[in-house]
Amino acid sequence: MTTASTFDVRVVDHPVTRTWLTILRDERTDNSAFRSALSRLSSMLVYEALRDVRVDEIDVRTPVGVAPGARLTAQPVFVPVLRAGLGMLDAALDVVPDARIGFVGVARDEETALPFEYLASLPEDLSQQSVYVLDPMLATGGSLIHTLDLLAARGARDMTAVCVVGAPEGLAALEASDHRLRVVIGAVDDGLDDASFIVPGLGDAGDRQFGPR
Ligand code: PRP
Repeated sequence: MTTASTFDVRVVDHPVTRTWLTILRDERTDNSAFRSALSRLSSMLVYEALRDVRVDEIDVRTPVGVAPGARLTAQPVFVPVLRAGLGMLDAALDVVPDARIGFVGVARDEETALPFEYLASLPEDLSQQSVYVLDPMLATGGSLIHTLDLLAARGARDMTAVCVVGAPEGLAALEASDHRLRVVIGAVDDGLDDASFIVPGLGDAGDRQFGPR
């Protein structure tokens, strides 16, 4: 397990991640193509998010000798924030197939933009594990902070948020929260509009994957 410094933001700015993000942003991208592009981009973001994960150094015998190798010291925990984060889960599991999984369901109230929790299905003790929260959107930061509160209440100390796109307001809110957190994100956009949507963003990642609620 690694321990994040207080607050660390890593923007993954790679030509290939930018091409997938462009497809996600494009208003012409339909639900099916959006899900596909989100999955492909998510595997790259999760891969980057795991860069600092702790491994045990082990030797492995090849057909012609012994090579240094590595295995993860502990199972990470992936926590998609429903609904939109579901579209990142399979990609994360492609990176670490035997990860544990927890679920948080949070819907943002359309009037107030405040998070409403409708599901929390999480391992009881997260004190020994690295936890990766999966949510494509970081707007006001309310949903993510609510999720981090749930995780911290179960002992989580090593938490990483994996997001596709965010607003500076959301990052500022995360930094102002008490949580030690690492953020791995595809892009930080200009800001929020009056309805607390990320501008230019990509719309509502839940609706664009699954249709309107
Ligand atoms: C969206 C998004 C985040 C949240 C971000 O979810 O997926 O969870 O809003 O906004 P915030 O940073 O201001 O909290 P939404 O509430 O639209 O639910 P959905 O994923 O079910 O569409």
